Parts: sequence; C-alpha cells; structure tokens
Amino acid sequence: MERMPYRDDLRLQLQQVAVATTTQQTVVATDWKQGLPTLRAGQVVLRELRTSDAASLFALLTTEEVARFISPPPSTVEGFERFISWTLRQRAAGTYACFAVTVVGYDTAIGIFQVRETEPGFGTAEWGFAIGSEFWGTGVFQDGAALVLDFAFDTIGVHRLEARAAVKNGRGNGALLKLGATQECLLRKSFLKNGEYLDQVLYGMIDTDWRGSRAIAAASSPIVH
Ligand SMILES: CC(C)(COP(=O)(O)OP(=O)(O)OC[C@H]1O[C@@H](n2cnc3c(N)ncnc32)[C@H](O)[C@@H]1OP(=O)(O)O)[C@@H](O)C(=O)NCCC(=O)NCCS
Repeated sequence: MERMPYRDDLRLQLQQVAVATTTQQTVVATDWKQGLPTLRAGQVVLRELRTSDAASLFALLTTEEVARFISPPPSTVEGFERFISWTLRQRAAGTYACFAVTVVGYDTAIGIFQVRETEPGFGTAEWGFAIGSEFWGTGVFQDGAALVLDFAFDTIGVHRLEARAAVKNGRGNGALLKLGATQECLLRKSFLKNGEYLDQVLYGMIDTDWRGSRAIAAASSPIVH
C-alpha cells in the first residue's frame, strides 16, 4: 500500500503486541516497538491495527477513488489480514509503524497512516496514508496527520520525513501542502499505475519545520482562562 514495502506473499509468524494507551494529543514516551500507543486529537483516534480491521479496510480502501493513485491495496479481506500481520511484524522489528484511523465512539478502522524508515535507524523516513472517501474533507486527515507527525518526529526520532504524491492526485497534494510539507522536486515517470508511468512530487518535512509550525499554531490559539 502507498509504496510501502509490503508483499502479500510473505508469511512469517505473527508476534504478540502490547498496546499502551493515552487519550492526550501529546505523544507519550512509550516503546512503540512493543506496541503502538493509542493517540487522540479531536474526534480522531489512532491505534494499532488488528486483524479484525481487515473487513472495513477492504471495503473502504479498495474503492476506485481511494486506490486511484496508490499502490494496489490487497484485493481480498484475507489479503488485508495478511497485510495487518505484516505491519505488526515490521513494527516489532522497529522499521515501520502503521496506525488504524478511527473516530471517537466508533472503533471501526476507516483508514491508515504508515511510516517506514528509509535508512537504518529511522533518521529519514517516508509516510503514506489513505482514508475512506466518506471521511474526506471532514478534518479526520488533518487531525490524524498531526498526531502521526508528532509521533514520527518526537517518539520515533525521525529527522526528515518524505512523501510522494502523483501530480494528478489533487487531494493528496492539497493535503500535504496544508500540513506545510515542502515540494522539493518532480520525480518524472516514477510511479507505474494501470500500465502508465505517472509523475510524482517529492515532499519533504524536517523535524524543525514541524516543531516550528506547531509552536506558531500554539501561540496563535486563543488562551482559555
Ligand atoms: C489523501 C487523503 C488522506 C487526504 O484526506 P482528505 O480528507 O481528502 O484531505 P483534506 O480534505 O484535509 O485536504 C485536501 C485538500 O486538497 C484540496 N484539493 C482537493 N482537490 C484538489 C485538487 N484537484 N487540487 C488541489 N487541491 C485539491 C481540498 O480542497 C483540501 O484543501 P482545503 O481543506 O483547503 O479545501 C485522502 O484524500 C485519501 O485517502 N486519498 C486517497 C489515498 C491517497 O491518494 N493517498 C496518497 C496521498 S499522497
């Protein structure tokens, strides 16, 4: 999914996970390799994936409009189950994290955020995301993305976070620009989709960029006495 190095044909043993929870927007100090924390901002709750999320993710992320500009998602519920097992193994290995997106009061997974290291030690990483189209334009992406950026930079310790968006992917580009990601270059004909090589934009975000924009947002938010 979303250019992440998942292969549906890989079968390794599923490892047990322990989930630490918090209801605060601030990312908690936790050993995320043992289990992803549960994170909340506004109406959005991010948590570790479970095998039982496969059905809703299959229903929501395999539609034409969602899958149009991303690597082909698994084509069956069982394929999503194997994908979820793979995400847990990669998280335990410390090379990757994948959050389920849910909303408060409904534990159903409506999308995912993925972060993977692109060099050993997670100094640089790439992220990707997909959310069911019923939830587009609702603020779910923005709140979830802020949580994932805090997690990547503050908890994992990522220094530089990259994203790729097909030039034709208007919402994907719009969403990244709204977060303050910088368009760094054009990757010509870099993504094969349905037999056609698409141009992609490479976006970069540095830890100091994100902390700076977070500090500005905090300073401009109204003080409640
Ligand atoms: C990418 C995704 C998670 C973003 O979530 P979302 O809820 O659609 O994002 P938002 O509505 O917060 O932001 C999208 C922005 O792009 C804007 N936008 C929409 N179409 C656009 C276009 N053709 N050109 C430029 N901007 C566009 C929207 O108006 C919105 O900005 P606004 O809030 O200022 O109006 C979601 O669209 C998705 O799951 N897409 C399919 C999967 C995918 O493509 N993932 C890879 C992304 S690189």
